[in-house]
Amino acid sequence: MRTPSTVVVTGGAGFIGSHTCVELLEHGYELIVVDDYSNSSPRVFSRIQRTAGRPVHAVHWVDIRDRHALSRVFDRHSVDAVVHFAAKKAVGESTRNPVEYYDTNVGGTTALLQVMQDHGVHDLVFSSSCSIYGDADRMPLRENSPARPTNPYAASKWTCERILSDVCRFRPEFRVLSLRYFNPVGAHPSGLLGEDPRGRPANLMPYLAQVAIGRRESLRVFGDDYPTPDGTGIRDYIHVMDVAAAHRLALDHVHEGTGMRVFNLGAGSGTSVLELVAAFGAACGRPIPYAVEGRRPGDVAALVADSSAVAREWGWQPKYGVAAMCRDALRFQRLNPFGYEDSADPVAVAAGADVQTPE
Ligand code: UFG
Repeated sequence: MRTPSTVVVTGGAGFIGSHTCVELLEHGYELIVVDDYSNSSPRVFSRIQRTAGRPVHAVHWVDIRDRHALSRVFDRHSVDAVVHFAAKKAVGESTRNPVEYYDTNVGGTTALLQVMQDHGVHDLVFSSSCSIYGDADRMPLRENSPARPTNPYAASKWTCERILSDVCRFRPEFRVLSLRYFNPVGAHPSGLLGEDPRGRPANLMPYLAQVAIGRRESLRVFGDDYPTPDGTGIRDYIHVMDVAAAHRLALDHVHEGTGMRVFNLGAGSGTSVLELVAAFGAACGRPIPYAVEGRRPGDVAALVADSSAVAREWGWQPKYGVAAMCRDALRFQRLNPFGYEDSADPVAVAAGADVQTPE
């Protein structure tokens, strides 16, 4: 088996991207990161280096839709494979601005595919989402469960999967692994890396963390009238460290087989919003204040994974439970109350100097 050594990571400064960079660096990969920092900070790179013990080889400030700038990145480095994280990911925002979601998520993916094709790079690990299953009637969800996206974010990811499948069918030199994440949360156990969204968090876990440290007053629970035991939405939360480990395995195995292969990445157990609120309260030692509001447009009642395929294929099993997810998310938030941007950490401040200006 040939292991790709130089990997372009799009969205490598983001939440899942940064944790995956650490995992890949720890396993000997050379990394070229492409990011536009629209929901991330270049300050993360010094922390990646500190955590992994070695740096990312190069960082390029590029909008994923800009195929000319992307092309220059592939001109400058000899690239073996790509991990494509760069995308927008908030369900609510996607219902307010669907065009932006298709433009970034679908347009970004086609730009990347064109550049890969032009440069003879054919191995891709793609960030897909459990949200493509939509309002499913049977849990847990398997990879062959029908896709019925209920919002533009989910539809944009499903559109990308269909494009990738066509590309693999008609250009058989392409090999794609599409990983359908359920709900990645938590943070690196060191507290150096975590989720640092810009503005008000769109997702549940970072919102809980900000309420826990007093940065926000109270959580808004979106709906308690779903057909679930406590009426709130059920999701399959998975620790970001487990997701990062799965990406490393995906890169190790992307050369095997042909065409497009799809894997669910979830823990296989469902947690309701109120159960997660209680677990977070237990982690921080005091109850988290919340108020129930109406449902969020585009949301579904429950999404729980059957991840047995990836376990069978690569021996991947999630190692962390919900208590560890809450503990690690809380640790990151306590150590970095205002995220990376306002951090007084001198290592973080120095990182600005490493980063290249927009292409
Ligand atoms: N929720 C709240 N209050 C909030 C935010 C969320 O009650 O402030 C509820 C939602 O209604 C849902 C659950 O918490 O029932 C989880 O919502 P998230 O926004 O955290 O996550 P989603 O299930 O919407 O999943 C989306 C994408 C996934 C992605 C995940 C985390 O569909 O692909 O965000 O980024 F993995």
